[in-house]
Amino acid sequence: MTNLRTRRQVLRAGAIVAGSSLIAGCHSTALMHTAPPLAVGGESSLRFHAASAGLLFGCAVDVAALRRDPEYARLIRQQCSIIVAENCMKWSNIEPERDRFRFEDADALMAFAEKNRIKMRGHTLVWHEQLPAWLEKEVVPENAQQLMVAHIRKMCSRYSGRIHSWDVVNEAVDPKDGRPDGLRNTPWLQSLGPEYIETAFRAARAADPSALLTYNDWGLEDETVENEDRRRAVLLLIRRLRARNVPVDAVGIQSHLRAGVRGAQYGSGLKRFIAALRDLDLQVFLTELDVDDSRAPAGEAARDAAVVEATSSYLSAALADPSVRAVLSWGISTRHTWLKERYRNPITRGLPFDDTLQPLPMFAAIRDSFSNAVARPQDKGVRPPARTANAPGDVQQPHLPSLR
Ligand code: XIL
Repeated sequence: MTNLRTRRQVLRAGAIVAGSSLIAGCHSTALMHTAPPLAVGGESSLRFHAASAGLLFGCAVDVAALRRDPEYARLIRQQCSIIVAENCMKWSNIEPERDRFRFEDADALMAFAEKNRIKMRGHTLVWHEQLPAWLEKEVVPENAQQLMVAHIRKMCSRYSGRIHSWDVVNEAVDPKDGRPDGLRNTPWLQSLGPEYIETAFRAARAADPSALLTYNDWGLEDETVENEDRRRAVLLLIRRLRARNVPVDAVGIQSHLRAGVRGAQYGSGLKRFIAALRDLDLQVFLTELDVDDSRAPAGEAARDAAVVEATSSYLSAALADPSVRAVLSWGISTRHTWLKERYRNPITRGLPFDDTLQPLPMFAAIRDSFSNAVARPQDKGVRPPARTANAPGDVQQPHLPSLR
């Protein structure tokens, strides 16, 4: 990173520091009066630190919150070079009733990204969760392929040329379901057999030739036997796809971490897994980073220490490999996060910013991991952007307040 800052950068960073009241890593009142506030904007932002290592940083975005909460929108613009739809591109949100489509939120998020020159990930095309109720009722082997492919075409062609990467298939692996290939027993598998994955990737490539096509999954992070089984199953799947020339460009490791839990350690198995993906010439994205601190020791300082330990050890293992190209947290702050409900933990501190949008120690842990990461080339392997009729600026949103 350069030490030479333009006058504008210095002023901008100063303004952000002035607006920040949290004293990071500081828990005693005496220190509170002396330590400088933690700078988070400009050259101190996560996007800037990530870029210095050739990485993208971003987060999952809650569109309703983006509309009503300008401070949240400002924080996302400040910190992110890439964003992903937390829910609004999922099938149940897009087509709540058969043939009644609701694209307003997804279009608005896409427009927000383009207006602010932030890259956009699409999430997610084929999953066994958050399916519309009508689909779960109606899907049978005779219509499953037509329904799945029509949905993929609809989504990919609508945003063609504008999406950095699509999560084409999400969470298709679960060795506990007992199949020799380790695949999860989903409605798609039951209707179409294991080939549904291949069909989905081919349909996505045909409808958006420029997006990086991603297989995304969880339970690949820590050094447990269960996670090792899941990694093995993902590698088996990806190798099979590659052998059949299926267009898969990247693997997303969700990165939902656990703090203060015995066995939740991050290291050699994770590194071997990422290296195996690199050998297959795949990019790797850490797509949904957050920390479940519901079982961490009580007290803010102890919980922060556990969150920092999990984040730092995980990122130092993962970012040691240059095939990891992007890190996205699942939410930017604890003001809007699924962690509170999911783990019944209203006091979670497992994201970079807190309820008042001040930085938590996890912010510094991510920032420092980026500073220590091996540098990587910024654009390796990214598919060239294709110009399409849906170029930025073409989106019409007559009924929505604009998101800035
Ligand atoms: C979660 C959202 O954050 C919640 O708001 C929603 O209620 C359920 O889904 N893995 C994924 C994400 O791939 O889509 C999930 O998002 C979190 C787990």
